[in-house]
Parts: sequence; C-alpha cells; structure tokens
Amino acid sequence: MNIYKASDYEDMGRIAAKIIAAEVVLKPDCVLGLATGSSPVSTYEHLIKWYEEGYLDFSKVKTVNLDEYVGLSEDNDQSYHYFMDTCLFSRINIDKNNTYIPDGVCKDAEAECDDYEKKIENLGGIDIQVLGIGQNGHIGFNEPGKSFVKRTHVVELTKSTIEANKRFFEDVSMVPTSAITMGIGTIMKARKIIMLVNGEGKADILARAFKGDITPEVPASILQLHPDVTIVADEAALSRMNEI
Ligand code: F6R
Repeated sequence: MNIYKASDYEDMGRIAAKIIAAEVVLKPDCVLGLATGSSPVSTYEHLIKWYEEGYLDFSKVKTVNLDEYVGLSEDNDQSYHYFMDTCLFSRINIDKNNTYIPDGVCKDAEAECDDYEKKIENLGGIDIQVLGIGQNGHIGFNEPGKSFVKRTHVVELTKSTIEANKRFFEDVSMVPTSAITMGIGTIMKARKIIMLVNGEGKADILARAFKGDITPEVPASILQLHPDVTIVADEAALSRMNEI
C-alpha cells in the first residue's frame, strides 16, 4: 500500500489526477474505473484542466463507474450519470459510447448487473479504479454486512449512507434507498486502486479499514489484500492511521 499525504483537498486532487494522467498517457485506451461523490471532484477538475491545456487525450479512454441509484434516470440531476456528465464527460474529449454506468431505471436489475459485469470483462478489466470511502467503510455501495458480495448487485442502502448522501438532495425522503453497485470482487480485480480520502470525519474509518481486521463489517478493509492500492489523503484523514 502506498500513501500520499496531500496538503489539502486541492492537492489531493492534483496527486490523484497525476496518477490517472500517467495511465492515460502510457495506455491511451485504458479502462478507468470512476467514482462520484465529493472526494473525486478536484481530481476531475485537474484532468479537465490538463485536457484543456492539451496534455491529455481521452478519445480512446473507456470508463466504468462504480454505481448508480435505482430509480434515477440519466437526466435526473441527482443521478450519477448526470454527475459524471457535468463533472467530467461533457468537459473532455471522451466518446460517450465508451462510458459505462449501471442503468438505474432498467426493467430487469438482475440482468443489468450481469450485463455490467460482462461489459467490464469484455473491456479487459479495469486498469485504475478510483474509490472514495463511506463513513461506514463502504466502497462503491458495498455496505457493511455479514459477507463480501463479489459481483455487481442491487443493494439496499444503509441509514448511515442515506444520511450522508442527503446533503445532495432537497430532503432526506428523496434519497433513493437502493442502488446498483460493482461488487467487492469486481473492484478487487482492478489492476490498480486509488482511494481518495479527506477530512477528519473519515480519519477513524480510514484507520479501521487499513489497520484493523479484514471484515465485511468494514467493506474497504478487503483492500488490504489488494496488491496495488494507493491512498491519497489529507493530513486530517490520515491522523488516526498510527493509532490502531
Ligand atoms: C461513489 C461511491 C461511494 C463514495 C463514498 C464517499 O460513486 O461509490 O462509495 O465514494 O460514499 O463519498 P464522498 O466522496 O461524497 O465522501
């Protein structure tokens, strides 16, 4: 496990974007696994800037996203489709046909999960997967539980995730209660993982994930078994790493 200590949120984004940019330069048709939420926004801003300055070309890059809310269509401004479009895809020269996100309004969610898993396999797997971490240790929407779910699946969101995500919605009652997410096995197959973590509020869960026991009660703890994980975090988020 590599740890980069960032001076602040902006610096965290710059470091993570450099790692992603290196991949895009070395492998122009790479498969990037992407995340939504607050953690990766500054990373995406840096990638957009370097694209605008002519340093990056995304024309052959493919992307797969971790998850999508069930029940939200692409044009819903709270959907992860919408987020990716506004925060990254519409601002770089990526071919939208090469971007994949689970369909939250599909008719058959089980079939959608199987298809998504196959899509990732057919793309040749994920080169770099970007992750955030939930306050409860979730990665993607793999919530704490009794076992690790391997493949892409439909998940009921926990109360803590719904509470954490209500900040993006007008009212907590509008936060979807389920989602489609890549499974733990899907994420673990990525060749490289970058986890972005900032703020004191994540210090405890980050330490439990990487210094505590490997347990499905802290889904991110499985990453201790991944051979190529890079944590990019600010000082506040790293503050408890030596305490456990
Ligand atoms: C997002 C995702 C989630 C978030 C996590 C952290 O696609 O899968 O696991 O990465 O909830 O969210 P933020 O970054 O908003 O703190």
